[in-house]
Amino acid sequence: MAISQHLLQILDRLADGRFHSGTELAESAAISRSAVCKQLQNLDKLDLGYSAISGKGYKLNQPLQLLDENTIRQALNENTRALLQRLEIHPCLASTNTYLQHAGSAHATACFAEYQTAGRGRRGRQWVSPFGRNIYLSLRYHYQSGPAVIAGLSLAVGVAVIRALNSLNISDAGLKWPNDIYWQHKKLGGILIEVGGEAEGPSHAVVGLGLNGFLPQHLSQTIDQPCTDLYSIVGDKAFTLRNRLAAALLNQLTPVLHDFDATALPSFIEEWRQYDCLYGKTVTLYQGKQQHQGILDGIDEHGQLLLCTADGNRQTFASGEISFRPGHEDSA
Ligand code: BTN
Repeated sequence: MAISQHLLQILDRLADGRFHSGTELAESAAISRSAVCKQLQNLDKLDLGYSAISGKGYKLNQPLQLLDENTIRQALNENTRALLQRLEIHPCLASTNTYLQHAGSAHATACFAEYQTAGRGRRGRQWVSPFGRNIYLSLRYHYQSGPAVIAGLSLAVGVAVIRALNSLNISDAGLKWPNDIYWQHKKLGGILIEVGGEAEGPSHAVVGLGLNGFLPQHLSQTIDQPCTDLYSIVGDKAFTLRNRLAAALLNQLTPVLHDFDATALPSFIEEWRQYDCLYGKTVTLYQGKQQHQGILDGIDEHGQLLLCTADGNRQTFASGEISFRPGHEDSA
């Protein structure tokens, strides 16, 4: 659905989670009271629960912090400010990754959306992208080298996201190979990297991150794997840390994307291993129609997955999807 400027103005007023009268909302958006009522009908479609009580007005059931470019910019460090050429915030896009694929040649562009109508995950999956609660961020970077050199970027991006969470005292998040963000064996976020360009370079990468701030239950039930959100970790704070989180992610991701080359990989691999949340777990690795069961033994120096199978072999995998179900561990 389209998100009008009027609706954004009303949401800005309602963001504090307190009651606001219809008259006040009408004034803030410079529209009639009946137009306010019409706009408020959109809140259900946006999964923003609200209450209406006669004599008191309207209130959102949970506070909301819309992304604000000035607030985010103010929280960027000098290095990130110098490196980032463009920062865009959109109320609604089909997908921030798709948008940045057609974003021209600016060297370093970051784009957030409040809402994605066609958010994309890896392996052709949909990425559930309700309005105003989560982070949908894509960054586009250009490289002189070809796509092969930036393959290891996938691990480095996961490390940068964990660093950003740690910088906000959201600790204990881990990584599931190659770069899913996990917390207590549930998926908190995911990364989709799309690379284009010439085999010998130049090339570009669009790095997309989805991080769940608050997923209403009826939406999390539609996701085919256990997932979690920041609300489950930090409670109500999840509703008011979006701009700080957005800036922390840019502060960590921008230098990593800027400096990344083959020589940077070993230190990221070292750090990635510290966040490996499935080390030693019994899992199934899916590769197309093939399944491999075994015990995870971390990653090698190229970032490939190591799996010890029942026959005592240690196999190396460059791609695949790990399935781990706590309490339902298959025996290798
Ligand atoms: C995954 O499947 O784990 C990857 C999910 C990536 C989702 C993000 S949200 C921002 C960006 N835009 C998209 O359409 N996808 C990525």
